[in-house]
Amino acid sequence: MKIIRAKDYKDMSRKAANIISAQVIMKPNCVLGLATGGTPVGTYKQLIDWYNKGDLDFSEVTTVNLDEYRGLPRENPQSYWYFMHDNLFNHVNIDHSRINLPDGTNLDAAAECARYDEVIRSVGGIDLQLLGIGHDGHIGFNEPGSAFELGTHCVDLTQDTIEANKRFFESIDDVPRQAYTMGIKTIMQARKVLLVASGKDKASIVKKAFFGPVTPEVPASILQMHPDFILVGDEEALSEI
Ligand code: PGA
Repeated sequence: MKIIRAKDYKDMSRKAANIISAQVIMKPNCVLGLATGGTPVGTYKQLIDWYNKGDLDFSEVTTVNLDEYRGLPRENPQSYWYFMHDNLFNHVNIDHSRINLPDGTNLDAAAECARYDEVIRSVGGIDLQLLGIGHDGHIGFNEPGSAFELGTHCVDLTQDTIEANKRFFESIDDVPRQAYTMGIKTIMQARKVLLVASGKDKASIVKKAFFGPVTPEVPASILQMHPDFILVGDEEALSEI
């Protein structure tokens, strides 16, 4: 595990974007595993900025996103498909046929999860997976207690996650109750994993996940076992380690 200390959110975003950009430069046809949430937004902004300056070319990059709400169509502004287009894909020269997310409108969970695992396999696996971390240690929608050996699967969101995500919806009743997510096994198979963490409210889970025991009760703790795991955190998020 490598820990990179950043001064603040902006610095964290630039350092994370640097790692992604190195990946794209070293392997222009790489497979990037991408994440939604508030934390990666600054990283995406930085990548767009470098693209606009002519420093980055996404034309051969393939993306596979971590997760999607079950039941939300793409055009719903709260879908992760929409989020990714709004925050990154619509602003760079990515080939739209190389963008992959679980399809929230396929309500046949077994079929959709199998399809998505096959997508990941068929593109040759993930070169670099970007992650945020939830207050309960979740990665993707792998909540505490998730078996480490799962591929893509359908999950019931915990009350904690529903509460954390309600800020994006009109009311808590509008937050979907289920999602499709890559499993821990899928994430651990990525060749490189980059986790971004920012803010005081992440300090205790960062300590627990990366300096505590490896346990399914803290899903992110498994990353301690990954051979190429990089944590980029700002001063506040790393303040307890
Ligand atoms: P956040 O979400 O980046 O919005 O804090 C992280 C997560 O829940 O994975």
